Amino acid sequence: MEFSSDIGRLQRRAASSMAGMSRRQAILEALPVSKGDHVLDIGCGGGHLLDHLAKDVGDDGHVFGLDPSADQLAEAKTRCAEHDNVTLLHSFADAIDLPDASCHAITSTQTLEYIEDVDASLAEATRVLMPGGWLVNVSILWDHFCFYGADADLNARIHDAFRAHCHHQMLPMELPGKLTALGYRHIRDTSLAFVNTRRNANTPAFYLEQLMAGFALGQGVVEADVTTWREQLAAAEAEGRFGFTSFPVLTAACRG
Ligand SMILES: C[S@@+](CC[C@H](N)C(=O)[O-])C[C@H]1O[C@@H](n2cnc3c(N)ncnc32)[C@H](O)[C@@H]1O
Repeated sequence: MEFSSDIGRLQRRAASSMAGMSRRQAILEALPVSKGDHVLDIGCGGGHLLDHLAKDVGDDGHVFGLDPSADQLAEAKTRCAEHDNVTLLHSFADAIDLPDASCHAITSTQTLEYIEDVDASLAEATRVLMPGGWLVNVSILWDHFCFYGADADLNARIHDAFRAHCHHQMLPMELPGKLTALGYRHIRDTSLAFVNTRRNANTPAFYLEQLMAGFALGQGVVEADVTTWREQLAAAEAEGRFGFTSFPVLTAACRG
């Protein structure tokens, strides 16, 4: 999925919602970062996390935000304009323009699951991470990403179409093995699962419904069906039987 124009805008709005905020809080609590550290955020998007990390590492530290999307990096540049200790890297995760063992910590949020050759990107992150440094990743268990309230068959068709939006539907289940093979230790998983029962602008459901609808159209689902799906979700909300569940998993690991 390309995170430019409308998709990028909806993704950034979802990141600004309450679930995005609580996800960043969980990452900041799990990532051991001290003043003076160098920290990399792979797939930094609009730079929401970079802003916090820049404050954590202080003037003597440095934060790098990597993303292949020029649109996302433009937003990150604006968001981090007041920080002199942030550098944005316009590239993919398998080609990080940083020296070996130069980062004290690396983080990535909802990005690795979009990368087809995720092993190459994990190996590249490991090259850049210092021995003893921590990697904290958040990826979603997409099999458990689900809207409720629409007709079951139609709902299933929209969700089936959305599966094409990312390469790895259940990456958190595979990460412990991949990280162990790369020599990581102390691997632990934390559930960041949440539920929305409303569709207001403070919920990720509000933006993700729009994003999924646009994606389903691109996958060939006819417009009338997508419109009906959204109308059924709206009706379900009005009748108090709407739901949206998402199951992000935070994986933390120490490089051996
Ligand atoms: C769902 S967004 C998450 C953005 C940000 N981490 C956040 O939580 O708001 C996924 C991001 O991964 C980026 N991305 C996609 N493929 C990538 C790759 N191969 N290497 C690095 N980043 C990638 C996209 O451009 C996008 O900004």
